[in-house]
Amino acid sequence: MISLVAAVSKDLVIGKDGKLPWNIPEETELFKKLTLGHTIIMGKKTFLDTGVLKNRRNIVISRSLKKRPGIEIYKSLDMALKAARKTNGEEIFIIGGGEIFAQAIGIADKMYLSYVKGSYKGDTLFPSFNKKEWYAGKPEIHEKFTRIIYTRKRRDK
Ligand SMILES: NC(=O)c1ccc[n+]([C@@H]2O[C@H](COP(=O)([O-])OP(=O)(O)OC[C@H]3O[C@@H](n4cnc5c(N)ncnc54)[C@H](OP(=O)(O)O)[C@@H]3O)[C@@H](O)[C@H]2O)c1
Repeated sequence: MISLVAAVSKDLVIGKDGKLPWNIPEETELFKKLTLGHTIIMGKKTFLDTGVLKNRRNIVISRSLKKRPGIEIYKSLDMALKAARKTNGEEIFIIGGGEIFAQAIGIADKMYLSYVKGSYKGDTLFPSFNKKEWYAGKPEIHEKFTRIIYTRKRRDK
C-alpha cells in the first residue's frame, strides 16, 4: 500500500523557498502519529529541509546526495519503492515534495490530505487530481485545517 501524505492550501500550494508555507503544530503532530514506526520516502529537497525524521525508516530519492547517517538513498522512485516493499505488508508513506508527489500520485492507493485554511503563495504544488477517481472519507475538521483521506477507486471499474 502506497500512501501520499501532504498538507495543501486550497490552491494546492505545498511549499515556498524550500520550506512549508505555514507552521501548524497540530498538523505536524498528526503527520508524526501517522508515520511513526513506518517507512517514509521523500525527495532530496524535502530531506534537506526536514533532516532525518526520528523513529522512521527514512528513504531519500536523489541522484546527487552522498551517503549520510540515518537515511537510505535511491536514485529513482522505483528503486526506493522496491527497497521499501521489502518490509512486507507495510503502508509506505510518500511525504513529498512536489516532484515526488507528481511522480507517485499515479500509483498511490491512498492520500492523507490536510487542507490548510487561508490562502498562501508558494512555488511548489501538489499535483491536481481527478476527484472522481478517489473515494473521499469523512472530513476531519481541525482548527487550522481539514483532513480528508482519499482511497483510490478500483481501476477496473
Ligand atoms: N506541504 C507538504 O505536505 C509538503 C511535504 C513535503 C515537502 N513540501 C515542500 O515541497 C518543497 C520541496 O519539493 P520539491 O518538488 O521542490 O522537491 P522534492 O520533491 O522534495 O525533491 C526534489 C529532488 O528529488 C530528487 N528527485 C526527484 N525525482 C527524482 C527521480 N525520479 N529520480 C532521482 N531523484 C529524483 C532530485 O534530487 P537530485 O537533484 O539530487 O537528483 C530533485 O532535485 C519544499 O518547499 C517543501 O517544504 C511540502
